Amino acid sequence: MKRITAWRRRPWAGYAVVLAALVAIGVVYAGFSPRTDRAEAQSTAQAAEDLKNGQKLFDKNCASCHGLNAQGTKDAQGNAIAPSLIGVGAASVDFQVSTGRMPAANPGAQVPRKTPIPTFNTSIKTDYEEKDKREAAEKQKAQAEKNLADLRAYIASLGGGPEVPPASAVDPAKGNVALGGKLFRTNCAQCHSFTGQGGALTGGKYAPPLSKSDVTPTQMYEAMLTGPQAMPVFNDTTLTPQDKQAIISYLVKTREEPNPGGNSLGRIGPVTEGLAGWLVGIGLLVLAAMWITAKKPKKLKKS
Ligand code: HEC
Ligand code: HEC
Repeated sequence: MKRITAWRRRPWAGYAVVLAALVAIGVVYAGFSPRTDRAEAQSTAQAAEDLKNGQKLFDKNCASCHGLNAQGTKDAQGNAIAPSLIGVGAASVDFQVSTGRMPAANPGAQVPRKTPIPTFNTSIKTDYEEKDKREAAEKQKAQAEKNLADLRAYIASLGGGPEVPPASAVDPAKGNVALGGKLFRTNCAQCHSFTGQGGALTGGKYAPPLSKSDVTPTQMYEAMLTGPQAMPVFNDTTLTPQDKQAIISYLVKTREEPNPGGNSLGRIGPVTEGLAGWLVGIGLLVLAAMWITAKKPKKLKKS
């Protein structure tokens, strides 16, 4: 006991303890981190499996209109029944299917937004009180997210096209709201109206309201990127990614029921980054505290 106390009084002892603690934390932290090398080996086989699932879902839900090879189909008079999907990209598929427009049900001037079919319904309610009901809903949602991702990957594999924007590009907290308002009034208001309530267009078509909370930031970005039906495409030269983000921030800010989270993309990034920042921060704080207290005894001796 005496030896430990003597050892503890040494000036470097405190630093040694902190160093040991930091190493221990590092080892524990590494244990929680994903193993990239192993994951890489598995991912090639997994990707092939995912593509196969995507193709199966396409054959079952989409091929009847878009053709077995997604080349599009025409009726007997040569009028298009459904367009080719080669090169439309993952973003277009994500927009059309997550908003429930596809698979289309009934022919009309415009394919309307609706609740997605269960296979692709990534926005189902999961906040049930009962545990078994909640778990069943969460499982269904996870399956729908996987189905939609596989379908996107399959269509993208046929010919590239715009990709789904990363979560950081559609975070409404990051855009310039004032700039977004200006850009919205010059680029979007002629169809969607100044308040984003939507409005009628020619030929029985209409621009839908953007003020409802069920239009997610990701869907807003994808609509601008892919220009569904009568809406023009706003590519990255017309509206830069920062401009798009500003418009998203403006739309989210102005609607009555803000939905700042948007779609959960299930990314683990912020968790690990937060943990790392927390651990390093605590380590530095401890070192700083020790540095401050270490000076005290000397001063006391002098006086
Ligand atoms: C009942 C027929 C029908 C079915 C089934 C259908 N679609 Fe479509 N799809 C259409 C039509 C018609 C359009 C064109 C709509 C328009 O632009 O007016 C279209 C457009 C699209 C577009 C936009 C293409 C572009 O140029 O941007 C995508 C993406 C798409 N469909 C994906 C799918 C997917 C994925 C499925 C299956 C989950 C599916 N569709 C099922 C009829 C169908
Ligand atoms: C020429 C008219 C026109 C302009 C300009 C236009 N849109 Fe659209 N927009 C439409 C139409 C039509 C649709 C419906 C497409 C469909 O149902 O497939 C639409 C759909 C959307 C949707 C999907 C809404 C939903 O309910 O799923 C979003 C989001 C959107 N527009 C945002 C914008 C933004 C942001 C701008 C400006 C940068 C813009 N639009 C400019 C006509 C327009």
